[in-house]
Amino acid sequence: MNNFWKDLASRWKIVALAPMDGYTDSAYRQIVKKINPEVICFSEFFSADWIVHSKFLANSVLPHHITEKPLIIQIFWKDPEIFRKAAIIIESYWVAGIDVNMWCPAKKVVQSGHGSSLMINVDTAYRIIEEMAKAVKIPISVKTRLGYADTDNLIPFAKWLENAGAQLITVHWRTFKQAFTGQADWSMIYELKKNLGIPVIGNWDVVDFDDGMNKVENLDWFMIGRKSFWNPWCFLPWKIEPTLWQKLDTMKEHAKLLIELKWRKWCLEARKHLAQYLHSFPWVKHYRGELVRVESFENVEKVLEEIRNDFKDGKVLI
Ligand SMILES: Cc1cc2nc3c(=O)[nH]c(=O)nc-3n(C[C@H](O)[C@H](O)[C@H](O)COP(=O)(O)O)c2cc1C
Repeated sequence: MNNFWKDLASRWKIVALAPMDGYTDSAYRQIVKKINPEVICFSEFFSADWIVHSKFLANSVLPHHITEKPLIIQIFWKDPEIFRKAAIIIESYWVAGIDVNMWCPAKKVVQSGHGSSLMINVDTAYRIIEEMAKAVKIPISVKTRLGYADTDNLIPFAKWLENAGAQLITVHWRTFKQAFTGQADWSMIYELKKNLGIPVIGNWDVVDFDDGMNKVENLDWFMIGRKSFWNPWCFLPWKIEPTLWQKLDTMKEHAKLLIELKWRKWCLEARKHLAQYLHSFPWVKHYRGELVRVESFENVEKVLEEIRNDFKDGKVLI
């Protein structure tokens, strides 16, 4: 058996980039890994059905750059047979592991029996993991929540998945029903870890590496999602405030990667990603307004140059 997750977990606490639809694409993963090569990146979620039925689509999202390795691809669907077939295809792209999305709360995903709804369709959830684990050598993991309506089934559900062959579980601190309410309380995830033999990642609202280390306790790792948008340096074990120049250089590099990887779609992607970097900047509205209108690489360079000129040594010129 491939002990990828257990071997990694035995080394030290490791930080992971959370799977985020529309964000954790190859370009962003390369940016994050350049800053800290130790980060384990999870891809955005892809439909398993899509991967099975469209070679073209599979070929557009599964190939990745060597620096992104070891890469975990996340998929969602509900039919174990489709998951099995998708797993075989994904494995052939030399990825390190496959993560099953039992997390997604989106109405149309849940109503059609995918994502979070697998927490209450436990037989299907079991068969999905079992079929995939039998079909491929790379490890299968699951990202899920504290529960569906309440947290009573967290431990039995996770053990159920472990018995089916899951080799890692990531738990996001929220139930499906909680939507976006409530205060993060990691105690249930710590309790879960005591009951499982496989590594567990905790996820919710980690700001940076230090914060993650304070929260991780008996867990194997922590995952950072949204906070990395404006600070991909948050994954470093030492606190670093990137200088303005570092940020601008990274923005430019990100735009170049998007051009390379997304062709005609790059511009829409660049508008979304680049504006995120300026989260807490002075005059952010003004620069954001310019970035969300860029139509060429020259436009991007012009905005970055304008920011450079408006600031000196990282200090605002007012
Ligand atoms: C824009 C966006 C897209 C997301 N897409 C996914 C996804 O495709 N798969 C998944 O398991 N979680 C997804 N998530 C949830 C994140 O992986 C993570 O669980 C959540 O953001 C909480 O972590 P954070 O507080 O560090 O951001 C998404 C979150 C955001 C903000």
